[in-house]
Amino acid sequence: MPRRCARCLCRGPENGGAVSTDAIVLLKDDHKTVEQLFKKFEQAGDGALVTKRKLVDAMIEELTVHAFIEETIFYPTAREAVPETEDHVLESVEEHHVVVWMLSELAELPPEAENFDAKVTVLIENVRHHVEEEEQEWFPEVRAAMGRKRLQELGERLIAAKPEAPRDPLSLRSARA
Ligand SMILES: [Fe+2]
Ligand SMILES: [Fe+2]
Repeated sequence: MPRRCARCLCRGPENGGAVSTDAIVLLKDDHKTVEQLFKKFEQAGDGALVTKRKLVDAMIEELTVHAFIEETIFYPTAREAVPETEDHVLESVEEHHVVVWMLSELAELPPEAENFDAKVTVLIENVRHHVEEEEQEWFPEVRAAMGRKRLQELGERLIAAKPEAPRDPLSLRSARA
């Protein structure tokens, strides 16, 4: 996992990341972090139970924090800024709903369970689909509507909110959606 600055969990230059507070850049950076965890899981051998447990725990944490800042800050702001993409927001929340319940199940499921790999595989499929829709279909419309300055201000709010994020996926709003 990439190293994070202790204050705001961003990847500062000293940790190999570029400095940007653009909200969409920050969210895509999170997506890349999660994709790296997915690839490591896919490359882990059948018997690598300890490694797979650690990777899934990291997925749970990364995805819970990411979904929290999206649901509490980015989604409502983007919905207001680009009302015509409201359907995207509503669909995205439903996709979060499925993901956070899968995360809560994986938190309890031992890696030796016969359905552990299957559940992680379906989680990965769901998240990849969700990320693709966000990045390909929705974010470009939000960028066009909001512009650079507003997205930078929004990104500052996302960074500030990360330390407040819960660790329990079921405490997210989308869990009750
Ligand atoms: Fe999302
Ligand atoms: Fe996202």
